[in-house]
Order: sequence, then C-alpha cells, then structure tokens
Amino acid sequence: MKVFDSIGSVRSFLNDKRRQGSQIGLVPTMGSLHKGHFNLIKLAAKNNNIVVVSIFVNPTQFNKKEDLQNYPRDLDKDIKALENIGCQAVFVPSEREMYPSNRTLTFEVGYIGKIMEGKFRPGHFAGVALIVTKLFNVIAPNYAYFGQKDLQQLVLIKNLVRELNFDLEIVEVPTVREASGLAMSSRNQRLNGQEKNLAANIYKGLQILKNKIVSGIGLETSISETKEFYKNVEGFDLEYLEIVRKSDLLPISKFNSDIETALCVAGYVADVRLLDNLCINPKV
Ligand code: PAF
Repeated sequence: MKVFDSIGSVRSFLNDKRRQGSQIGLVPTMGSLHKGHFNLIKLAAKNNNIVVVSIFVNPTQFNKKEDLQNYPRDLDKDIKALENIGCQAVFVPSEREMYPSNRTLTFEVGYIGKIMEGKFRPGHFAGVALIVTKLFNVIAPNYAYFGQKDLQQLVLIKNLVRELNFDLEIVEVPTVREASGLAMSSRNQRLNGQEKNLAANIYKGLQILKNKIVSGIGLETSISETKEFYKNVEGFDLEYLEIVRKSDLLPISKFNSDIETALCVAGYVADVRLLDNLCINPKV
C-alpha cells in the first residue's frame, strides 16, 4: 500500500495503473475510520483492481470552527487499519495541497443546501461539493463509494456527477450499525458508553416512525407521535425529523408504497451532532 500526499504523485501512480488497464475505485473519507468505511473499502476492493482511500478533514464543509477542531483524527491508526484490506493507495493531502491560497470559486448547490442538514449547517454542502469535485478530478475513479447514512450528501453527489458530467459511477452502500442499531459514525468516538446507549434511540425512533407510516397512520400524526418519543429520551435533543422522497429529498404529504421514502433525523447527544435515516423500499 502506498501513501501519497501530493496531487502530482497520486496522479502519476494512477495514470500508470490506468495504462495497465486497471479499474479504479475511490472511497473518500475524513479519517477516523470505522466499520462503515471498511465496508465501503471491501466492496470497492471486490469490484476494482485499485482502491484509493482519501483521508482529508475538509475545512470548507465545517460551518462551526469548534466542530472542525473537535473532529477526531488519528492518521497513524487509520493507515495501519488500511493495510491488508484491499486498499492500494491512500491519498492524504495537506490543506495547502487541496486549497490554494488564492481560492476564488464556491459552489451553489441549490435547494439541497437549504433543507434538513443544509438548513442547520449553512455552507456545509457547498464545501462537500467542492472537495468531492476536486477528489474526482484528482483521482478520476471509475467508481466512487458513499454510505447511505449521509443520504443528503449522497443525493448531492449524484447530482454533481449528473450535472457536471463526471465519467464515473456512484455506488451507494447501506448503513452499517452497531448491535444496538446506532449508525456507525466517526463522531460516535466522542460518546461514552452511556451516551452511545442513549444514541441508539435515534434508530429506534426511526423504526417507530416507519411502523406507523406503513400501518397507514397519517404522516403528520406519525411525525408528531415520534417526536413525542424523542422528547422522552432524556439527553437527546432533536433537531429535525422529516419524511421525504428518497431520490430527491423533497417532502411528501402522503405515503405511497410505490415510491422509495426516506425518514431522516438529526439531533444532539451531549454536544455531539448525530444523524441517521431509514429508507422504506417500494413494494415489488
Ligand atoms: O462523508 C465524508 O466523510 C465527507 O463528507 C467526504 C465525502 C469525505 C467529503 O469530505
């Protein structure tokens, strides 16, 4: 496994591999790797000759300075964990390498930047769009792997690929969960055992909401009863709970079992912001 910190060196390594006929899979990360990432990497290794994992804590996607400062980082541990799981190249650029000081461009991501995560984290998705575009340009993968846990990010990146004509395919990978149901996230590292148990209620709430909806209870009632469940979870501070169409995240007013529906939630446990979603697949 090779570790690259410059755009030039990773490009020249990958150009050689491409000339030899290799197919390239990219798993973009911000490090603090966990089972969810390893799952993406293993899948990428199954379907590509070369797997590149990028590790870069992207400053432009943090709207709060303290969130960027508190983001867990352990590069040595991450690199060790990547040995022997099918990753051939790790791209670990510095901030200077990714962002020239005379930067002039920003992204306008449309309504995605104004709803759910976008509403509570202004500028976040513009930063994600910028860094993912850069990574796609640098690595030029055939396939790029993203988890369903960050569903809004996934929809944004699919829009990016379609609207900017990137010649690659996005592979969407289901969320990996702890036995308790808690979705794997680098942020979980900042929770103690008790807080993790408490955070498992986030998924419980989504399951309650799903059961209500599929049993025919109206969306408004389902939402307000689930909000009541969350209210009773002491130590959990709900930010939003929304029912949307999965393909574009637009709100729906009535459940239609022919259309894939996503139940999306975000909130705080202690001072750690967590998000999750549960998708209801169309009946076939
Ligand atoms: O999901 C993440 O870890 C980040 O948002 C990503 C896609 C690596 C961009 O910085």
